[in-house]
Amino acid sequence: MKSINEQIKKKPWIAWGLFLATVVVVFILGLLASSIAERRAEAVFAYTPQVELSEWEPRNEVWGENYPREFQSYYQTADTSFRSKYNGSAMIDMLEVDPRLVVLWAGYGFAKDYNQGRGHYYAIEDLQKSLRTGAPKTANDGPMPSTCWTCKGPDVPRVMNDLIEKLGPKEGVAEFYRGKWAKLGMEIINPIGCADCHNPENMNLRITRPALVEAFQRQGKDIAKASYQEMRSLVCAQCHVEYYFNKNKFEGANYLTLPWDNGMSCEEVEEYYDNMKFKDWIHKLSKAPMLKAQHPGYEIYLTGVHADRGVSCADCHMPYKNEGGIKFTDHKMQSPLNNVSNSCQVCHREETAKLVANVTERQDRIIENRDKLEELIVRAHIEAKFAWDKGATENQMNEILMDIRHAQWRWDYAAASHGGSFHSPVETGRIISTGITIAQEGRIKLARLLAELGYNKPIPYPDISTKAKAQKYIGLDMDKLNKEKNEFLKSIVPKWTETAMEREKSWKTKTL
Ligand code: HEC
Ligand code: HEC
Ligand code: HEC
Ligand code: HEC
Repeated sequence: MKSINEQIKKKPWIAWGLFLATVVVVFILGLLASSIAERRAEAVFAYTPQVELSEWEPRNEVWGENYPREFQSYYQTADTSFRSKYNGSAMIDMLEVDPRLVVLWAGYGFAKDYNQGRGHYYAIEDLQKSLRTGAPKTANDGPMPSTCWTCKGPDVPRVMNDLIEKLGPKEGVAEFYRGKWAKLGMEIINPIGCADCHNPENMNLRITRPALVEAFQRQGKDIAKASYQEMRSLVCAQCHVEYYFNKNKFEGANYLTLPWDNGMSCEEVEEYYDNMKFKDWIHKLSKAPMLKAQHPGYEIYLTGVHADRGVSCADCHMPYKNEGGIKFTDHKMQSPLNNVSNSCQVCHREETAKLVANVTERQDRIIENRDKLEELIVRAHIEAKFAWDKGATENQMNEILMDIRHAQWRWDYAAASHGGSFHSPVETGRIISTGITIAQEGRIKLARLLAELGYNKPIPYPDISTKAKAQKYIGLDMDKLNKEKNEFLKSIVPKWTETAMEREKSWKTKTL
């Protein structure tokens, strides 16, 4: 092997070649360095950390010091001015709009009070004000378990992790789900926010709710392996899913569980509940063992064309936004119809009016049949009560009551999967149509049974034309409930808030 010097003497162009190659490499490295420096400068401009965030910092305002744009846009979920044809951020008393709902939910909390959901900012306030949470006077009082807090805000992972540190990973979580709702009234104060979805160290998305992680585990899947795009939906699936409280897992705990072990479709979840003979309540009129669908938004979304094409919840509900040349994620999670240009027109070229019509036309068509199904189920409850009154036996009623359970499960699944008639109109329509068949079968059996019992005239239908009349018909004493609630809001809630303020004041936040 000759030395390089000898080679260069023979062929001088080698030296020039080496020289040029070096110049090119140095130039490229220079470009890279300058681009990195530029990005860094941008990042510093966009985010200069002001405070050190602890792992479970629940106060959105404190995160807001570091991320003012995201915080300010998050804060706009307080805006209640937008109404679309069926949804939006206004608080609408759904029982007033449709008093038949009171009959559907007779014997259950929802018959007392049910409002259309509004922005995340209100999650705590709305739960405190709802008649469904009652008017507890002590920590061990009231109709609801502590589990009801789970989807309300970042104090939940904070308290859970305190308990995990004390009691270990399994018992810690179970302990959170033990006891009454009022037990955690002074702990859960900050509404849905940053710590629910973000790791403060690097702002990566994170899953903070054990129920979702556990549901994946039982299906043999590791949620930690979810892709970046999947995470942009899974953070929402921590709360916008169907769930129930399992009382058989840990002594005394209402353990939040997602019923996905047989699959995630309406029928597979129904089978899961049927197999374990689970019921949310016994219907006050028909005595059917009922299921309350919570909000299977994620499950229905998965069956739609957007999910199929990899479009995430965040793509439509948290689109990018530009302010002063800085691009960031709009944290005002809301109806995309209030923001069609950023939510839809990044992918679709159609005019706003056209896209809005695409949404409302699908909703109109779904709701047309959902409304018919609702009417059938209301009648079935009333007719079943009539049959009991005429002396029907449990044996005669059992099959009919299962039909009512299954029909209403389908109605509720379609109605409570907020946005489902757009997210997946075909699946939602299918669920409703199977519900109509089941409800009709149940009513045919009822007519036959009543004939057997010697009655074959039309069954009297009560006047349930207003919320007040419907609530009276099912025997609710609304004056009493409202009075107790007002008392609770005046005497107990301010104490909760005060205790929480004291606690938060005692925390030292390090400024940087
Ligand atoms: C329901 C879940 C959720 C909540 C609550 C939430 N975020 Fe986000 N955040 C997201 C998603 C989704 C993204 C987009 C992530 C991505 O694609 O990289 C994001 C992105 C971000 C980013 C990255 C920069 C950007 O704008 O894209 C920052 C910073 C951020 N969020 C701050 C916050 C702050 C501060 C809060 C509380 C006021 C908050 N987030 C609350 C889901 C959430
Ligand atoms: C920690 C639980 C939780 C998480 C996480 C969560 N939500 Fe929600 N969301 C709620 C609750 C509770 C409400 C109803 C609040 C109320 O009415 O007081 C709600 C309401 C909404 C609404 C209705 C707002 C309106 O103006 O009508 C939309 C839209 C929504 N969420 C979208 C999302 C999206 C998209 C994600 C994920 C990026 C997400 N949510 C993550 C719990 C959650
Ligand atoms: C990230 C891209 C993306 C965004 C954002 C998006 N879409 Fe789509 N949309 C798609 C794709 C992809 C399809 C499937 C059609 C195809 O592949 O040609 C689709 C299909 C549709 C369809 C026909 C499917 C059906 O249900 O019958 C409608 C209607 C629609 N989108 C409306 C909207 C509206 C309204 C918004 C805003 C709220 C929106 N899209 C946001 C990508 C997107
Ligand atoms: C392709 C866009 C798109 C995707 C993806 C999408 N949504 Fe929606 N979502 C909509 C539209 C459009 C509506 C109907 C809004 C209306 O009627 O005002 C809606 C309605 C909703 C509502 C009811 C809003 C209200 O004002 O009460 C909630 C809650 C919701 N979506 C949550 C989710 C969640 C959670 C995911 C992911 C699992 C998701 N969405 C995925 C477009 C989308």
